[in-house]
Formats: sequence, C-alpha cells, structure tokens
Amino acid sequence: MSEVKRYPVPDSFRQRALMDKTRYEEWYRASIEEPDTFWAARATEFLDWSRPWDKVSEWDFRTGDAAWFIGGELNASYNCIDRHLPTRADQTAIIWEGDEPDQSRHISYRELHEQVSKLANVLKQRGVKKGDRVCLYMPMIPEAAYAMLACARIGAVHSVVFGGFSPEALKDRIQDAEASAVITADEGVRGGRTVSLKANADKALAHCPSVHTCVTVRRTGGKVNWDEKRDVWYHEAVDAASADCPPEPMGAEDPLFILYTSGSTGKPKGVLHTTGGYLLCSAMTHKYVFDYQDGDIYWCTADVGWVTGHSYIVYGPLANGATTLMFEGVPTYPDASRCWQVVDKHKVNIFYTAPTAIRALMGLGDAPVTKTDRGSLRLLGTVGEPINPEAWEWYHRVVGEDRCPIVDTWWQTETGSIMIAPIPGATDTKPGSATLPFFGVQPALVDADGKALEGAASGNLVIKASWPSQIRTVYGDHQRMIDTYFSTYKGTYFTGDGARRDEDGYYWITGRVDDVLNISGHRLGTAEIESALVLHPAVAEAAVVGYPHDIKGQGVYAYVNLMAGHSGDEALATELRNFVATEIGAIAKPDLIQFAPGLPKTRSGKIMRRILRKIATNELDTLGDTSTLADPSVVDQLIDNRLNR
Ligand code: WT7
Repeated sequence: MSEVKRYPVPDSFRQRALMDKTRYEEWYRASIEEPDTFWAARATEFLDWSRPWDKVSEWDFRTGDAAWFIGGELNASYNCIDRHLPTRADQTAIIWEGDEPDQSRHISYRELHEQVSKLANVLKQRGVKKGDRVCLYMPMIPEAAYAMLACARIGAVHSVVFGGFSPEALKDRIQDAEASAVITADEGVRGGRTVSLKANADKALAHCPSVHTCVTVRRTGGKVNWDEKRDVWYHEAVDAASADCPPEPMGAEDPLFILYTSGSTGKPKGVLHTTGGYLLCSAMTHKYVFDYQDGDIYWCTADVGWVTGHSYIVYGPLANGATTLMFEGVPTYPDASRCWQVVDKHKVNIFYTAPTAIRALMGLGDAPVTKTDRGSLRLLGTVGEPINPEAWEWYHRVVGEDRCPIVDTWWQTETGSIMIAPIPGATDTKPGSATLPFFGVQPALVDADGKALEGAASGNLVIKASWPSQIRTVYGDHQRMIDTYFSTYKGTYFTGDGARRDEDGYYWITGRVDDVLNISGHRLGTAEIESALVLHPAVAEAAVVGYPHDIKGQGVYAYVNLMAGHSGDEALATELRNFVATEIGAIAKPDLIQFAPGLPKTRSGKIMRRILRKIATNELDTLGDTSTLADPSVVDQLIDNRLNR
C-alpha cells in the first residue's frame, strides 16, 4: 500500500484554535467514562433551558430506545434567536447570497427574530398547533430558515423536502407525515434556471387532504395557480402579523423535525429528531469541529433539504450566535469561480462542502480558484461521501493554500450531527480519513457475524452507546427503526457503512455496505429507483446498482428487462430516465441503462445483485460462483452488453 501522508495541524492554526490535542483527549475520555456528567455540563453551557432536566439520559440499544435531558424544557427558536438579542441584535445572523452574483442580503438577529415571530403567528392563525407537522418545500432563501425556526417556535414539527424532489416524492412525504400545512415558493432559482415549486406543490396537494394551508413565498413573481381557501401569500400574511410570539416551552424529547432519507428497502423513512439532544450536538459540533469563534463568517454549501443544511446552516450555527451564509445557487454559476468569489465578497473564514463539488471544480482547473484571493479562509470541511485523496490534496493545496486544515466529517441523517471528524487544532489529518470520534461517540468495527474487531481492522461500522442527537424513531413506524438500526448487530447502532481503522485508530469510511447509493452525496435506495422504473408500462423488471463515477462518486446503473413488444433503444432509455426524474427527482436519474432479456436469479427467484454489481463495475474476474443461478447464460449476455468498460 502506498505511503499515507499525514498533515500536522499548521502552527498558525494551532495558535488560535479553540482546542488542542491534550484537551481533546481529556474531554474525550471524560465523555466516555462519565457521559452523563459530561453531557450535563455541555447542555448547561451551550443551551438555555426554561426548566432543568430530571435525568440526563436513559437508553437501551437492545431496544433502540433513547432519551436525553428527560423532563427538561427549552425552545430551539429561543435558543437560536431570542437569547442572542441582548448582545447580538445588530450582528448578522444570515448572509444570503442569491443565484446571481449581484444579489445578497444581510439579516441581523433582530430581523431574524421579527421575521420568525411573524411567520410563527401566521402559522398559529391558520390553526397550526404544537405537534402538527408542517412540510417545507423551498428554495435556498432566508424564508426557508425562518420557516424552520417558526415551526420550532410554536412546537410544530417541520419536514423539509428537498426542492429537487418531484411532486410524487413530495406527495409521499406529506402523506406519510400527515402534514397540515405546506410552505413553498412560487419558483426556485438555481444556476440561472427556475424550478416551479408551487406548481409541483399543487400537483402533490391534489392528493393530500390533510393540508389545509399552503403559504407561498414570492421569489420570482412567476405565474402560479391559486386556491383561495388553501393558499396564502407569505408576504401578505407576514406583513399583517404581529411580531410578538412567545416561544412555546418544549420538552427536551418533543420532536423538532422529521427528515426523510432513503434506506435499502421500501419508501424513504421519516427520521425523527427531538429538541434538546439534537440542538446540543449540532451546536457543540459546529463550535469544535469548525473551530467556530465569535465573528467568524461560516459557509456551508448544503441545501436545507438535507440534514447538513438543518444542522450546519441553521440550528448549529444559530444556536452558537454565528453568522451563517446561505447560498441559493450552484458552485459553477455563472462560472467555476463562484464559490471563491463569494468567499472573497463576504470574507468567509470557514467553508464546508461535499466531495462531489470539489471533484467537479478540480476538473475545471486551478485558474478559477487561483485568480481569487481566499485570504479570509482558515478552515475547510467536507461531508457526504468518502473523499478520494487526490481531491483532498487539491482542496488542501489549491483552495486552502496549505494553510487551512480540512475536516472530513462523517455522519448521517440519523446521527443528527457529526460523529467522526478531526478537531482541527488537535488532530493531524490524513487525506481520505475522517480520523477520530467526536466527544461521546463510541465507534466500533464488527465482522459479518457481529464479532468485535480490535486494533487495525476493516469491518462494519457500528456505534456502541447513545449520543444526544441520535434518531429517536422512524415517523409512524418505530419497528422499522429497530429493524434497520438496532437488529443487525445486537446491542449496537448499525450505520450501514463499512470502515477501516488504521494503526493510529483513525477511521476510513469505505462506503455503504447495504443497498443504498450515494450519488453526489445524496442518499438513494436502489429499491426506490427500481420501484420507479417498474411503474413504467414498458418495464417488466429492473435492478439498480451503483458504479464508480468520477464526479458523482457513484452513478446509477440500471438493468431493465422490458415487456414483450418493446425495444430497448436510446429513445426509451431517455424516456425511462425522465420517468425516474418525475417519480423521484432528477438526482435519481440512471446514468446507464442496460436493456437485458433477463436478470440473474437464484432458483428461488432472488435477483443476484452481487453479480450485477460486478458487471457494472467491470470486475469480471471476481464474479464468483454463477452455477447456482436458475439460468447461468443470462450472465454472459449481460457481460457482452455491459455499458461501463
Ligand atoms: C451517508 C449518510 C450527514 C451528512 C450528509 C449525508 C456517507 C457521509 C461521509 C464522510 C464518507 C460519508 C455515509 C453515510 N457519508 N459523510 N465524511 N465520509 N462517507 O447524510 O444522506 O444521511 O448519508 O453518507 O455513507 O452513511 P445522509
């Protein structure tokens, strides 16, 4: 194996960092030996509580039950806004950078307070109550953050659905959560193109009788249809509302939000997070992993439709009284320099993005980067998928000019906050490794039988003990949470990821070990894409696997067996791609569609995905035993016509 490079903490960074190695090790030990004492101290330090808790934690990984700060009361909106007002009313809370470079706005904590309170009152007037679910289907505009915080303020549970999802996907999520209200915009704008959010919402809402109210932000002024009874213009309602809305006291274990994410089977699951533990961990990781210090300008490029946007654009930064930048556009519009121009324009100190964006920008050369200054940058971060060492090195050398540590942060929608990542003033980094666990996190590796692996080893990544921001349930299907996360390896939380631990105890995440794909850092279940494909009248059967893709990390490879009378030509392939986009969203479009007269199956009719994966990744030498197949000849057919050579 090639020599792994090690990057020590740069002296210039260490000198002003919040935490050094000694303190990381001390805190980590304390967090494992006396977790309740550790977390109680952090919960007091990071959050304001209207009622103290009676008990710090109660959990059991044999059942998956977990509760933190039991009996305590707080409000997330109060913690993200009101309590900062005495010292930060005029400080910028959100810098909004629009799709076009000449559009940006600064929103102070005072303004944030006013906007959130008004919208909270609008929701109340429309009958939204504590515990009701509100679905947000929004572009990256400040109103998306206002809407999340307005829900939190009145105790409504938000469910943000990524604006790139189709009406069909939106409908499923609204129905599953039985949302009573939807907040959307007339249109979103990204990379110079508009997305008809309200029209999509209208399509979904035709099948969602639970929704009595749809609040629409006017973003572009594009034409929309209107249902007088149900629809409300955001600006009209907010203008007329009072700015006085006392935050609802919430139990630490009251739900804060639901966020749908894909698994290896069935429809996406509504991951439910609660108030106290989630807010604590998002704030604490934001401070220590990003070394966030007062006055820093912090930019996370994620969309609020994903958990990264929840924890690291909205809740974590705002709980810490930070200035968080929210970007409406894409990294390559109007050109490949955009990110670095935004960094210079707003003097961004901390920049957090996904490997797929880094790879795409790397492919466009150094010049768009080096023509900008980037002198303000102090720290870089990545999330969402394994980062290949080449991309890591480029990010470090060209973007960060060897001055900025990179924090490669491993976590999941279900974990709520960062679990494995360097503490930048404390941890030497190695390109491609997420390094060491955060406080309170106890990762472990197990083999296929669940046997614990010690020392340097490769295996399945599990977590041995509860942490405050862990998933509490799958909305409406608690058994599914138990089955998915707490049944595979008894007594532990199973992440679905494989990992290697090296001789220094550093973790190297190798990717999913289940039927979940990671397309440009977005999670998609192969089963979901297959279900979409077979809805098409020409499709008899479909099997989907991932294959390595230069930019996206993984691409979608679909094997499709057609109904009699249909021919697998390019026109049909295009039609199927668009069909998947309509059913799920553009991110799920198959990159490669191989039409096949049959799929490899066992005699009992089970599709042999192992073989399909090997063909898609062009690993024909290691196909394994095909003699147990019902019809071994289909494999030769598939190999002859394979698309990734
Ligand atoms: C899956 C979770 C949590 C933020 C975004 C994705 C993969 C995430 C890393 C990383 C290698 C990573 C894992 C994980 N993943 N971060 N730093 N290195 N893999 O959230 O949609 O819930 O996906 O993303 O496979 O299980 P998500």
